[in-house]
Amino acid sequence: MALKIGNLDIKYPAVLSPMAALTDIVYRRLLDEIGGVGFMVSEMISAEGIRRGNRKTVEMMRSFDFKSPQFLQLFGPEPDAMADAARFVENETSFSGIDINMGCPATKVVKRDAGSALLKNPGQIARIVRAVRNNTSLPLTVKIRLGFTKVNVLEVVDVLESEGIDALTIHFRLRAERYDVPANWGYAAEIKNRFSSPLIGNGDIFSAAQALEKLDVVDGVMVGRGAIEDPLIFHKIAGISPVPGMTEIIKRLMELIVEYYPEKFWLLRLKAYTRFIVAKRPNAKKIRQKIYTATDFSDARNYFLQLLSENEHC
Ligand SMILES: Cc1cc2nc3c(=O)[nH]c(=O)nc-3n(C[C@H](O)[C@H](O)[C@H](O)COP(=O)(O)O)c2cc1C
Repeated sequence: MALKIGNLDIKYPAVLSPMAALTDIVYRRLLDEIGGVGFMVSEMISAEGIRRGNRKTVEMMRSFDFKSPQFLQLFGPEPDAMADAARFVENETSFSGIDINMGCPATKVVKRDAGSALLKNPGQIARIVRAVRNNTSLPLTVKIRLGFTKVNVLEVVDVLESEGIDALTIHFRLRAERYDVPANWGYAAEIKNRFSSPLIGNGDIFSAAQALEKLDVVDGVMVGRGAIEDPLIFHKIAGISPVPGMTEIIKRLMELIVEYYPEKFWLLRLKAYTRFIVAKRPNAKKIRQKIYTATDFSDARNYFLQLLSENEHC
């Protein structure tokens, strides 16, 4: 079930979604230590920000000595800026590949004709992909949705196929749909037949059983929210044992927050992961309340571990 993306041999078929403010260096390193992830995608990073050497952008490109290949996700409307950014990633960072964001629904990104706005303009998709492809030899993947307000995924897939990308991820929703509508995997089989490089499906995978079922149709699955709710999901999909304990994982998460961020951000970072990590736990409300109202990181850390073990006994 291994994948080949460009010149990279990907050991596991489940990959980590790019998620702004969540798949930062801390969370990617945590999952890398746990294991079982085919590759991981960073938070989306602005090509223009790279060009300007924006300090926050540079921080988001920090890397570590990883086991699972790390892809950096770029976004932007401009082929030239995207090409410059791709060269920078190849020459100045240790990322293994580049993913282009053509699915972000956020208004501030769409207003700049980037992210999912590109789905309305297949000609611009071709220009961006060609510019990036011609300026890097790194494996190149693209992440799209089914369309902007209406489905035009087949047309977009044909453009991406002819531009020779190394793998394609599809989040099976329109830009216009929030998370209220279930992801529509009904398109997967037809696209799989149409597209020659690996096809990675994305949307609403929250368990190993769901991932394994989808892997009958697509070459890889991308997991987003499910990977924060359960940091062990990749481990479970890969069938690795023994499974590490959740308390150890949360302790390690806290250590990594402290290692990578200045003290003023520790609590903020913990709060960002908390919303998802506790989502499906029986005492989610209690944990959230304690963490969101905490004013001190070590208090929050202790509450978290204590409430987690209370939960573990349920
Ligand atoms: C908080 C959050 C941030 C996200 N940021 C990005 C992003 O930076 N780039 C991107 O392509 N998708 C982003 N997404 C979309 C996810 O990668 C994924 O496509 C979506 O959540 C569906 O997958 P899931 O059902 O497994 O979560 C984000 C999603 C969430 C919940």
